[in-house]
Amino acid sequence: MAQGISSKKIFVNEIKDGERIKSIFLVKFKATPVKKNGEPYINMIIADRTGDIEAKVWDNARELEKRFQKNDFISVDGLANIYQGRLQLRIEELIKIAESDVNIADFLPIAGSDIETMWSELCSILKGVENTQLVSLINEYLSDGDLVSAIKTAPAAKEIHHAFIGGLLEHTLSMVKCAQALCPLYPLADRDIVITGCFLHDIGKTKELNFDKSFDYSDEGRLIGHIVFGVELLGNKMRNIDKFPEQLALHLKHIILSHHGELQFGSPKRPKTIEALLVSLIDDLDAKMNSWKLIFEKNPGESWTSFQKIYERYLFKGKPDSGQKISGAKGTMAASNSNNGDPETSAVNKTSNLSRAGSDVLQAIHSRGCL
Ligand SMILES: [Fe+2]
Ligand SMILES: [Fe+2]
Repeated sequence: MAQGISSKKIFVNEIKDGERIKSIFLVKFKATPVKKNGEPYINMIIADRTGDIEAKVWDNARELEKRFQKNDFISVDGLANIYQGRLQLRIEELIKIAESDVNIADFLPIAGSDIETMWSELCSILKGVENTQLVSLINEYLSDGDLVSAIKTAPAAKEIHHAFIGGLLEHTLSMVKCAQALCPLYPLADRDIVITGCFLHDIGKTKELNFDKSFDYSDEGRLIGHIVFGVELLGNKMRNIDKFPEQLALHLKHIILSHHGELQFGSPKRPKTIEALLVSLIDDLDAKMNSWKLIFEKNPGESWTSFQKIYERYLFKGKPDSGQKISGAKGTMAASNSNNGDPETSAVNKTSNLSRAGSDVLQAIHSRGCL
């Protein structure tokens, strides 16, 4: 049953009820509970870059469970079936596969845009910063080779938004582009500080998340978190610059510390400068837009998404036969009065009052450290 690097035969999003599945998956979860007759069975969640699926081993579990652990790659032979409304795999045979024998790109989602192209674009926008102290500071970051490769690789979150290799870079680039567009409209905000703040706000994610086989929080990420990492890193970089202005240092630290907007979203401070407010709002905008895009991309061809617990509503993608693409869904939501079983309809007053401060949605997103 040994297979080589090119042996990924079928992806999770291609599995259909009744099919025999022979392919390699990453084990995201493994437990060995006991059946009523006292015999063990294996309960698993297995995954690849397209998603994950529940899997069970009912027979010979005592022998098979010795062959692998969580985070191992396994080649499985099993049958897909629907159980209690959910597709799952009933695995009959499995074997562990060495990491060197798999194509890691099959298992980790990767940014749709080319990483080096995004990096060049980010660098060219950063080159537009004119404040000489900020230029020196940005150069400290850009000349740190290990940090640069981590920025290019890291996801921006474990889930919800930009949860893919290159996600942090895509999120950061998108934010500095938003800042470029918005700053001329709000001249009260210092453009150089906003652009630098967008660049630095989530840079601690490079230490917060592990992203070798799957995305999860590192020990330091769980115990300390990206906001504190970001401020620590800023302190280290500023120490390399002769006479970095104290007020500017204070302001940049405040932008990082306040970018989650509200205390209940894990922000140690709420924005208290116009630049911190703008960075926080741009962060919220970009994270939500990407989160919706990722939701819309599931179940192509459907007009409505499944119920989105964190947003407490179904989302409308547009009619497939109307020529509307995912990105063309704007303007259609207000026109639709179909409640589609949507509890939002009975809670319209609640949802119409959604704001960053009051939204349960945001609390869900932020409390997971996703923004
Ligand atoms: Fe953040
Ligand atoms: Fe962010």
